[in-house]
Amino acid sequence: MSKWVRRILVAGNWKMNGLQVTVADMAAIDGFAASAACDVAVCPPATMIADCRSAMPRVAIGGQDCHAQRHGAFTGWIAADMLKAAGATMVIVGHSERRAFAGESDADVKGKAEAALASGLRPIICVGESEAQREKGEHIPVVLGQLAGSLPDHVDDNVVIAYEPIWAIGTGKTATVDDVMEMHGAIRDWLRSRCDSAEGRASDGVSTGDRITLLYGGSVNPANAAGLFAIGDVDGALVGGASLKADTFLPIIDAASRAGQLRINSSRTGSAD
Ligand code: PGA
Repeated sequence: MSKWVRRILVAGNWKMNGLQVTVADMAAIDGFAASAACDVAVCPPATMIADCRSAMPRVAIGGQDCHAQRHGAFTGWIAADMLKAAGATMVIVGHSERRAFAGESDADVKGKAEAALASGLRPIICVGESEAQREKGEHIPVVLGQLAGSLPDHVDDNVVIAYEPIWAIGTGKTATVDDVMEMHGAIRDWLRSRCDSAEGRASDGVSTGDRITLLYGGSVNPANAAGLFAIGDVDGALVGGASLKADTFLPIIDAASRAGQLRINSSRTGSAD
């Protein structure tokens, strides 16, 4: 009998880039995603969502931020319903660049994640420590504290969490496999205990904490992707710079697809976790 399995997700975060991504790059990403044993997403700037939706029909499209309110007098902001109307099915919230440059707090991020769920979008909720916090050995309590403050009151398996150590974003420095294993293990344990007490278990006995997709982000590239995806609690990646070119994004999707196929195979033989 096959066991329940978490699908791997690779999501590209184009940030305030994307005009340079070619039609050929998009076609290559879409073609590759069609046969991958993992889910593939691209989060372009909001103005490009509709075009990306048409150019990459087999790729999930996401926004990069949304407002906590569904509509209103909020000049310059964008509501989750608007992202959805443009063709998005997910949205990044609480990226460290928004926390740092737009002063977003955990409570702000929680409001945005709740708005995303209310609009039927999957929120990708980002958390991560600074270099100074890691050097002081505070990385785990900092990240678990961000999660406690940023997660919606009611979480379900549409929620995606991205652990992105700030010092690894756009720097070329990746967390080591041991660092990621330690953090993802701590997040998974925390999710299990929070979800079991808040939500209880589904009828198949699998905790919501075990169903939630947990991504790593921060300088993921073709050389380090397979090692990261081999970690049991890493369910994929949020990829910045390397998602802007098919040359660098496709090998990462390929590594994710291989890891995804292994999970599917081992769930069939009953040996998956
Ligand atoms: P990077 O960005 O892959 O360029 O480090 C990741 C992110 O910020 O989501």
